[in-house]
Amino acid sequence: MGEVSFYINDLYTSAPVGTTLLEAVRSMDIEIPTLCHHPDLKSEGQCRLCLVEIGDWPQTRLVNSCTYPVEKGLKVQTHSENVLQARRLVLELLLARAPKAEIIQKLAAEHGISQSRFTSEDPEELCILCGLCVRTCRDIVGVSAIGMINRTPAKMVSTPFKEPSEVCIGCGSCAFVCPTGVITYTEKNGIRSIWGRDFELVACETCGSYIAPRASLEYWAKQTGDPVERYYICRNCR
Ligand code: SF4
Ligand code: FES
Repeated sequence: MGEVSFYINDLYTSAPVGTTLLEAVRSMDIEIPTLCHHPDLKSEGQCRLCLVEIGDWPQTRLVNSCTYPVEKGLKVQTHSENVLQARRLVLELLLARAPKAEIIQKLAAEHGISQSRFTSEDPEELCILCGLCVRTCRDIVGVSAIGMINRTPAKMVSTPFKEPSEVCIGCGSCAFVCPTGVITYTEKNGIRSIWGRDFELVACETCGSYIAPRASLEYWAKQTGDPVERYYICRNCR
């Protein structure tokens, strides 16, 4: 694979063809906030927090660094006044969308924003509709138990028709990746409850601590072709 040379904050650098600007910037230890990016998933550019400015002044423009690939000779600014202004605006919009989300409050405060100028539809909202949970369930787990339903402003993450999903394996990956912590599950008496369903948790045959829902272990055994019994012993006891 060939290398492309370009500039980040006036520093000449290079990266393999196909590298995104976000990856290139982070490889130089320059911090850019992101909410919908996951290194194992194809980026869809939903949160718009990762904006950078590209091009030669005055013909510059703002792009999502998580979806924009490196280009020969491209000039990239990660913290120009235009970028910071746009990022503050994005944070105000996110704050209005999900006023209760602590991660948004924290990022907003770090950017000098204590309050949004935009009106919030729901002061209790936590979901920013970044889609990370949906993509993780579909592209990493491979089951598509959840998706986006309804149109804006009623758009939300849900199982189909808000009914318990037959394909959900109760793995909790959606809850794990959610940046705002809005997806939750409970575990009580050996049962994990998530998305309206109860899943029996399997206890390790050696130490007795709960490993994961039986449905998840059976699914992973099927995916890998390993005997399911292999999954009945937790990692610490293997
Ligand atoms: S539930 Fe979490 S991960 Fe899913 S869209 Fe909302 S904020 Fe993003
Ligand atoms: S991280 Fe790039 S748009 Fe969300």
